[in-house]
Amino acid sequence: MKILITGGKGMLGRTLQKELVSDNELIIADLPEWDITDADAFTEKTIAAAPDIVIHCAAMTKVDDCETKRDLAFKLNEEGSRNVALACKAAGARLIAISTDYVFSGEPPREPWAWSETDIPRPRTVYGASKFAGEQMIHMIVPDATILRIAWLYGAGGPSFVHTMAKLGAQEGPALKVVNDQRGNPTSTKVVADVIRFLISHPDVSGIVHGTCEDQCTWYDLTVELFRLMGLKREVVPCTTEEFPRPAPRPRNSALKKSVLNVLGYRTPRWQDALRDFVASPDSGL
Ligand SMILES: NC(=O)c1ccc[n+]([C@@H]2O[C@H](COP(=O)([O-])OP(=O)(O)OC[C@H]3O[C@@H](n4cnc5c(N)ncnc54)[C@H](OP(=O)(O)O)[C@@H]3O)[C@@H](O)[C@H]2O)c1
Repeated sequence: MKILITGGKGMLGRTLQKELVSDNELIIADLPEWDITDADAFTEKTIAAAPDIVIHCAAMTKVDDCETKRDLAFKLNEEGSRNVALACKAAGARLIAISTDYVFSGEPPREPWAWSETDIPRPRTVYGASKFAGEQMIHMIVPDATILRIAWLYGAGGPSFVHTMAKLGAQEGPALKVVNDQRGNPTSTKVVADVIRFLISHPDVSGIVHGTCEDQCTWYDLTVELFRLMGLKREVVPCTTEEFPRPAPRPRNSALKKSVLNVLGYRTPRWQDALRDFVASPDSGL
């Protein structure tokens, strides 16, 4: 297969390069040569490259920056996704677009909870709203596109929460306070690459697909497990969201239910197992 990866130099894109290169011909479509906000040039280059599949990773991903740069967030995440969809339509390529748990409100009606593909998104942040607008653009232009929602991502080289905490954990200092009232599914880029490989082998799967690791935890739980795996001794203490105010509100629970993958007989690994494999991998950058 010939596969074009937008944002191919980013954290997920780099893992996709590594994981997909042996079986496929890859085109890495990232700045400055490929700009998803330049609709005409992007379509022209995509038609010329003639990919079978486009994996759309490019986005404005810094959640707090999106709050202060709203126009830029929508330009990249909504218009950029529209342009990628138009290019796929013109080139006749299948589209697999990456989206996020932030499309949901993060306010679960009850606990325990996980958001299903059929739950109605109600984003509370500019990042979430711009990514959801991008999803809708894609649905309208390429109705048989696959939209893969992922969350709490970490991958080789970072940047990610896991990399930040590993660095802090290796330093001496007072106990680290880590938020213990937000829940989600920590997910490695390797797990996402495996889900994408599965989707590539199932061309009939379209619409929304949730693709995070199994089981949910808090940022505090994730840090404790990371330190245990890495043998880091710095003390970690749980704290509340109120103790760490951020420009963009963080979801209280953004765990995702993998209803579509499970119906297809595919199960993602538990987050603890994926984290263990990541810590043991030579290129983690931890
Ligand atoms: N990271 C997470 O925790 C997380 C969670 C859920 C979903 N996601 C989604 O997963 C996808 C990949 O995330 P990631 O963490 O790998 O992101 P990332 O590391 O920020 O990578 C995004 C890539 O897109 C590039 N890009 C930015 N503007 C572009 C443009 N106009 N045209 C072409 N490329 C452009 C970036 O280049 P520059 O670096 O030069 O700007 C970067 O290489 C995104 O769609 C994101 O919304 C991420």
